[in-house]
Amino acid sequence: MTLQGRHIVLGISGGIAAYKSATLLRLLIKEGAEVQVVMTPSGKEFITPATMAALSGKPVVSEFFAANTGEWHSHVDLGLWADLMIVAPATACTIAKMATGVADNMLITTYLSAKEPVMVAPAMDLDMFAHPTTRRNLETLRGDGVIVLDSPSGELASGLSGKGRMLEPEQILEAVKRHFSALQQDYSGKRVLVTAGPTRESIDPVRYIGNHSSGKMGFALSAEFASRGAEVDLILGPTPVTPELPATVRVHRVESALDMLKSVEENYGECDVAVFAAAVADYRPLHPAETKIKREKRETMSIELVSNPDIAAEMGRRKRTGQINVGFALETDNGVENAIGKMQRKNLDMVVLNPAGNKDAGFNADTNRITIITTPGNKARELPLLSKRDCAKAIADSIAALSEAAKR
Ligand code: PMT
Repeated sequence: MTLQGRHIVLGISGGIAAYKSATLLRLLIKEGAEVQVVMTPSGKEFITPATMAALSGKPVVSEFFAANTGEWHSHVDLGLWADLMIVAPATACTIAKMATGVADNMLITTYLSAKEPVMVAPAMDLDMFAHPTTRRNLETLRGDGVIVLDSPSGELASGLSGKGRMLEPEQILEAVKRHFSALQQDYSGKRVLVTAGPTRESIDPVRYIGNHSSGKMGFALSAEFASRGAEVDLILGPTPVTPELPATVRVHRVESALDMLKSVEENYGECDVAVFAAAVADYRPLHPAETKIKREKRETMSIELVSNPDIAAEMGRRKRTGQINVGFALETDNGVENAIGKMQRKNLDMVVLNPAGNKDAGFNADTNRITIITTPGNKARELPLLSKRDCAKAIADSIAALSEAAKR
């Protein structure tokens, strides 16, 4: 969910396109945004506040005072709460009021108090859209820093055809996503290496030692770094899960721990940040059989194992000044203590502790319960249950803070 944690005010003024705002609201919420709907009195003539309240999960704000309690609706608080205000549809009247500051309804007072960026999606008939007054008002808004979305040509409510239609909700959503991703490009120009998934250590041509890692934590990290401008190399062990990743992420598929080490060695030198999220098998069969091992008549059998290289520890030895290495610790008990031990042994700058054996965290879950521990000082920050993408966001934020602190 790319808008997770974002606060959006959705302003609705009185145009026929208001019915599309319900779809826009659903799309924003599906992407994880929290949305507060603010409607003008005429907006309520086109779509009911009950519909928008049910879809947003919040009472719609429309009047200056709540009719039953007399409570004042604070447009100032809304301005502080929101990360973005979208006015869709923005009628000629609302655009004119925004341009001239006619604060006679909640939508306009909210706009005038907005500390956040504001986006408008104009919607009106073609003559109104083409009128010099509207053009002038839109120019004023642009000059004031408002993001004015395109109004494509097409069939209009009047039956005429031309420019003035509201952009489709899906296109508005894309503009919103572009807006947020352009804001946060703190990894631009950086290279990030991520290891993810399990490794498979062959016993014979048909059997292997493996584990339950799905790679999902590594996918979330790769997507998060890429969305913040990084060039990402994902070294991925064999997982049945198909990653949904931005096209810019370079995926290097590997099988065993030795393959993973080789691929990491090829990409580590150039990277600024390395995050080791893979569940690498600590041991592999010393002599994998070349042909399928037969059952024969034995009751027991043993396989001699040999230790695999510790990839994170090896890269810890090669780390140059300025590089940041982050490891994970999958623990059942004494989590923080064990995680700090791993951080020190592997020369990590940060370790992310997550639990083993939980249904909603660690292996294969879509959510995780992480504690981020950073050097210097081994400060531990425990986070609540979050989607893996939100965990990735918190990890990326902590790494960015660490690299800022290192510059000071
Ligand atoms: O893939 P998912 O299903 O989404 O699950 C995510 C995860 C649980 C696999 C992930 O969040 C995680 O915890 N990965 C590390 C698992 C692990 O092997 O932990 P560890 O405590 O054994 O290893 C410590 C660190 O050393 C890890 O960063 C690991 O990648 C690294 N390591 C370990 C052994 C080894 N031979 N080479 C390594 O690089």
